[in-house]
Order: sequence, then structure tokens, then C-alpha cells
Amino acid sequence: MLRTHTCGELRINNVNKKVLLTGWVQRLRDKGSLLWIDLRDRYGITQLFLEEGKSDASLLQIARTLGREFVVKVEGTVAERISKNDKLPTGEIEVKVTSLEILNTSKVPPFTIEDETDGGDDLRMKYRYLDLRRNPVRESLQLRHKMAQQTRAYLDGLNFIEVETPVLIKSTPEGARDFVVPSRMNPGEFYALPQSPQTFKQLLMVSGFDRYYQIVKCFRDEDLRADRQPEFTQIDCEMAFVTQEDILSTFEGLIRHLFKTVKGIELKEVPHISYADAMKQYGSDKPDTRFEMKFEELNEVAKGKGFMVFDDAQLVVGICAKGCAGYTRKQLDELTEFVKKPQIGAKGLVYIRCETNGTYKSSVDKFFDEIELARFAQKFNAEPGDLILILAGEKDKTRKALGELRLHVAGQLGLRDKNKFAALWVRDFPLLEWDEELKKWNAMHHPFTSPKPEDIQLLETNPGDVRANAYDMVLNGTEIGGGSIRIHDRATQQLMFSKLGFTDEEAKKQFGFLMDAFEYGAPPHGGIAFGFDRLCSLFGGADSIRDFIAFPKNNAGRDVMIDSPSTISEAQLKELGIKMRE
Ligand code: AMO
Repeated sequence: MLRTHTCGELRINNVNKKVLLTGWVQRLRDKGSLLWIDLRDRYGITQLFLEEGKSDASLLQIARTLGREFVVKVEGTVAERISKNDKLPTGEIEVKVTSLEILNTSKVPPFTIEDETDGGDDLRMKYRYLDLRRNPVRESLQLRHKMAQQTRAYLDGLNFIEVETPVLIKSTPEGARDFVVPSRMNPGEFYALPQSPQTFKQLLMVSGFDRYYQIVKCFRDEDLRADRQPEFTQIDCEMAFVTQEDILSTFEGLIRHLFKTVKGIELKEVPHISYADAMKQYGSDKPDTRFEMKFEELNEVAKGKGFMVFDDAQLVVGICAKGCAGYTRKQLDELTEFVKKPQIGAKGLVYIRCETNGTYKSSVDKFFDEIELARFAQKFNAEPGDLILILAGEKDKTRKALGELRLHVAGQLGLRDKNKFAALWVRDFPLLEWDEELKKWNAMHHPFTSPKPEDIQLLETNPGDVRANAYDMVLNGTEIGGGSIRIHDRATQQLMFSKLGFTDEEAKKQFGFLMDAFEYGAPPHGGIAFGFDRLCSLFGGADSIRDFIAFPKNNAGRDVMIDSPSTISEAQLKELGIKMRE
């Protein structure tokens, strides 16, 4: 080793010790006769010290040529500092330099390698290897490492085995577009990269592996957001001979284990809610339950008073923002503007202020008197000082819009605290959802998800009402995982494909291998996959998953550091049998 210690290691009890350190120059302070260098590595920062007259003149000369991010090797003796720095674990000592060797020079970095950097997103992505030297990014990856270790420890302890599945496969329908790879040896044919290892993990159950997991890359060509990357990682799991309850408790155990070992938090028991109730109470299938603010349906008190917006609506529904009666006209206008944004889609917002003097003031005073307004307030158990916000319209759209407003208001009230955690199981999802554009049914989870046996008879008459044995885990309003009990017999799988609009031919061509396998003793099975990057970013208290991925893509799906995707040569194209359009 070139070093005896790391830059984060030396303490007061090492005083007088001769040490050898290596690292990067974080900063140089030259006060004429005294010179300090902050030396940094992955473990911390150690202060180096040279003094005119006491240190060798040639050493001072070398030290004065150092620039930021130079790589150096230093020999010296640990000494107690005169002015200590209690913000640094090594802040009580410094190293008096007796030898200094420059191992490599560095250009001036394009942004400061500090916790708070002056580099914008694009620049940081272009020089990601420098960004990764910064503490917050490095710590995010260390957290990720710890999460992966603890995931393996927990699952290994329960007899799960990690099996790698192939990356060059064919389409797995998880609802996104596939990334495809041309096959040179099979001109005109393509592999697809897995959107998840779904079919393979089911085949492993047929093979008798019984408990499988894999921390695995998945690829989805979809529009990117803060919590979506085109290649991301799942903790992918499958179990045979289990009920839905077994799966939920096993994987609630995993999340609990991660909270305990990685964050030192005892997570409360995770409540269950049905999809239908989640939509009714929160207008979302991934409700943020760090705070209450549940919906109240108001048709009963709202209709029949001559206010057309309410009278014509399928649903009048509201939330109560505690202590917000003091919201100004401007704040209420801002909330109205918010709900009217095209992506939210409400036509307007009705408010009722529950004044501290016990009276009510609303935007619909013309239609509702004090007694009628009090009836609204009773619905919410609202207290003086509260603010009631109401939307009206078509049921599903209005619920979704109010769900967005709920999150917006909670954000304003500081109720979405990143250090508070609330997990939730959402279950009994619909099996199918209607695709208005293509005028066909799609699988809401994926086509291998089993319908609830008691709902199967509805498949012919009311496909939209059939519930699935499917569940999601939601943490702080983010979907961190989802899974289902699978179909494990050919006939039901075939029926499912036909409901999804596949001809027998198509189903056989795409998924014949799975249906064939179901005829060779497929055990009942089910599983789940967690979004590992999302889980890490929530544990790290971040909004974006990017800093929990070493080399992420930007919002346009590009890696700006290596400049990918990029064109390939004519020769490569020719070899692959691909013609570029003119
Ligand atoms: P699903 O499609 O719900 O299920 O994905 C599981 C979890 O993966 C995460 N996730 C993503 N994370 C980052 N970027 C993305 N583009 C992205 N897409 C999904 C989410 C999600 O909850 N095969 C099934 C699982 C199963 O049935 O066992 C599946 O992939 O956190």
C-alpha cells in the first residue's frame, strides 16, 4: 500500500506517529510563512502543515506548485492542532509534512468539489467522475451499497437464492417500450432488453427454485422523470407455494429490516388499503400517508341548492387543510390556478373558511347560508381556523385533481417531511384498464397477474370490475414496489391473453414458452419487485434517483459524459443488416 492511513482516520491518540497518506488536494492556504493543505480521499479530510524555516525548503517549493485536485503522497508526523476544528472528525490533528510527492497533476476542475458545488446539472453529468468525488454523491452510493448488502443478508437468511437471468431476451410486457438490440447472426432479427425478468423468474418457480431474488438491471424506453431512468435496478423476487399474505409479510419484513439496519428506524406495521379505497380517500393509488387530509364526499350536502357546478357534478369532494383559514386571497387564487393547470384539469376551486369566530366565509356564499356551510364543516369535523377546499366534476378526474391539490397543500404546510416515513400496502388493483386510444383492455400490472377467483365470472360481462391479486408498496407517496400472485395454468393464461386482444397465434408466438412450461407441473407462485433506486433515494431523503446511480442518464435519456446514444459506422450497420433511412 502507498499509505499507512486514510484521510479520515487520524485522531489525537495518533500524535507523534509517523504516517503516509495519499489523496487529492482539496484546498491550499498559503499564509507566507505557514502553509496548510487539505488532503481528501473517500474517507475524509486531513490537514497537512508546512512551516517556513522548519520544513525543508524544497518541500515548500513543491507544495506551492500544488493545485486543486492534484494527487499527492505525503509522509509526515501527526501533531496536535493549535486551532481545532470540531466539524471535522480529524479536526484535532494535523500532519507535519516531511516528504511530499506529486503522483499526478490536475487541470482546474470545471466546478468546485465541495458539498455545495457551483456546478450546474449538465456540467456535473459531463464530469460525473468529478461529481462522484463530492461527499453527498459518494454518500448516496455508499448508502446504496449498504442497502444492497442488507437486502442480500435478509433474503439469504430466508433461503432465497440469487439467480442471474439473461439480458438479451425478447419482449416482456411491463407497459413500456422495449429497447432492442439487432442480432448480427440473425439478420433482421432483434433481441429486446428485459423490462423486468418477469417470465424468467416464473420459469425458475416451475424449475423448483422456490425462492428466488436478483438485484437486477431493467430497461424501459419511457418518458423520464425524477424517479424514472431508462435503465434502473430492481430487487426482483419470486416465491412458490405461498399466499398473497405470505408475500406481503415477507417483503414488509425486508423493508422493515432495511429501515432498521440502514437507518436505525423501527418502521410501524404497514397498513393495507384497497385500490378502491385509496382512490376514494386520497385520489391516488400511491397516497402519501405521512399526513391525513383524507377526502370527504359531499354530494349529500352540496347538491340541490342551485349551484350548477355542484348540481351537475357526478362527485363533489373536498379536503380540510388544518389551520389554513387565514390563507389570503392571493394564496387561494394560487390554489385555484394550480387546480386549473391542464395537467390537473379542474375547472375551479370552491373554498370554505371556518373563521376563528365560528362563522363561515366561502366562495359560494350566494348559494349556501351559514347553516348549510356548517354542514360541510361537520363532514370534515372541521374546527375554527380550518380551510375546506372543494372540487366537483366527473368522479375519477375530480378525485385525481383533488389528490394533486392535497399533495400541493401538504407541501406548502411542510407535511411532506423527508425524515418521516409512512409505508402502505395498496392491494386489490383492477386486473384490466381500458385503453381509450387503442380501444382495448390492457393489463394493469402485467398479463401474468391472476384475477381474484371470486371475480373471474365478471371477465365476460364487466372486465373493468375484475380485481387482481396484485399489490404495490407505497412509501411517502412513491410506488416503491409492485407484484402479484401469478396465473400458473395454461387455460387461464390463454384466457387472459385473449382478453388483452392477443390472437391464439400471437400469444403462442410471444409467450408459448411460458404456457408450455405451465403444463409441466407449475407450482402456484407469486412475487414482487422493488424499485431499488427509488428505495435508496427515499432512504437518502432525495427527490431524484439520479444521485443514487453512479452514471445516470439525463432527462433526454443521454449519457452526456460518454456521449451516448451515438451513431455507429456504416460498416457496423451493414454487418447488422440495417439500412438507415435517407
Ligand atoms: P413494476 O413494473 O411495478 O413491476 O416495477 C417494479 C418497481 O420498479 C420501479 N420502477 C422504476 N424505477 C426507476 N425507473 C423506472 N423507469 C422504473 N420503472 C419501474 C418502481 C416499481 O414499483 N415484474 C413486475 C414485478 C412483479 O410482478 O413481481 C414489475 O416489474 O418502484
